[in-house]
Amino acid sequence: MNETPHTTELRSEPVTVIGLGLMGQALAAAFLAAGHPTTVWNRSSGKAAELVAAGAVLAPSPDAAVRAGSLVVVCLSDAAAVHDVLGPHRDALAGRTLVNLTSGTSEEARELTALTTSYLDGAIMAVPEVIGRPEAFLLFSGEREAFDRHRAALQRLGTATYFGEDPGLAALYDVALLGLMWGTLNAFLHGAALLGSAKVDASAFAPFATRWVGSVTEFITAYAGQIDRGAYPPEDATVETHLATMKYLVRESAAAGIDTDWPARIQALAERALAAGHEGTSYASLIEVFRGRA
Ligand SMILES: NC(=O)c1ccc[n+]([C@@H]2O[C@H](COP(=O)([O-])OP(=O)(O)OC[C@H]3O[C@@H](n4cnc5c(N)ncnc54)[C@H](OP(=O)(O)O)[C@@H]3O)[C@@H](O)[C@H]2O)c1
Repeated sequence: MNETPHTTELRSEPVTVIGLGLMGQALAAAFLAAGHPTTVWNRSSGKAAELVAAGAVLAPSPDAAVRAGSLVVVCLSDAAAVHDVLGPHRDALAGRTLVNLTSGTSEEARELTALTTSYLDGAIMAVPEVIGRPEAFLLFSGEREAFDRHRAALQRLGTATYFGEDPGLAALYDVALLGLMWGTLNAFLHGAALLGSAKVDASAFAPFATRWVGSVTEFITAYAGQIDRGAYPPEDATVETHLATMKYLVRESAAAGIDTDWPARIQALAERALAAGHEGTSYASLIEVFRGRA
């Protein structure tokens, strides 16, 4: 990249990272690699050694760490730890932007806005080793002006998306996306157990699983439109057709002697949709079950 006064200015924004667990270390390393003067603080100072060797400054206290950066990133175990560490340093935070990358609920994110006037909450949809690359995606919400002002620095961590002024929105996206991950992984693990009962290796199942997950993403896009319109025409298959096939999943699981709890729950959701009158509709009508209306 050609150096211009503009890029030099973007790189020179001083950044502070508080919390050097697995993720915090990766965040600080990405800022350093991008040329930001980076100050770090961690409860156990030994975790800063590699970063200091790479050029970071280890602050002697959270207060000193906060005062060193115009952008203060915090990444700790939970919201209670953020309150413990930063609660006593509101004066130091004044005039700086606090970006909380600690996982938590949307309510916890909204409560953390009490720490400072310029607050962004963020969620990291990535593991530490991909931080700093575009495939790491990070979700932000909170003060729009703060996001615009610090966008370039935040993009050093990965692809940054902003969802709006409600500071709780990034946390809500986070748990919704993690739920999608766990649902998908549980389904894969259940399928691997089922095929394993016939001596099929998980590695043999995996390519078919990933290909099928790709097809399922197309259903998501189609069903999102139906959900937003509030109409569930059975353009592909009805809930009844799904239910009939789900029963095979339950029967196969029982016959193989593997856990039937997961498929039985899937079947129960479809039965509740039908009991609520959604016969002849698409699978998307199960949204009414999840909304608690069925
Ligand atoms: N790792 C991932 O793949 C990943 C991915 C997405 C999001 N996240 C989120 O990132 C956050 C950090 O995760 P991590 O993997 O870095 O966890 P971690 O390795 O367990 O690190 C936890 C950090 O929190 C600090 N801490 C905990 N309680 C504290 C307290 N009361 N006062 C001061 N410091 C305290 C620890 O300090 P000490 O070193 O002194 O113990 C350490 O720096 C979590 O919210 C996690 O959900 C992680």
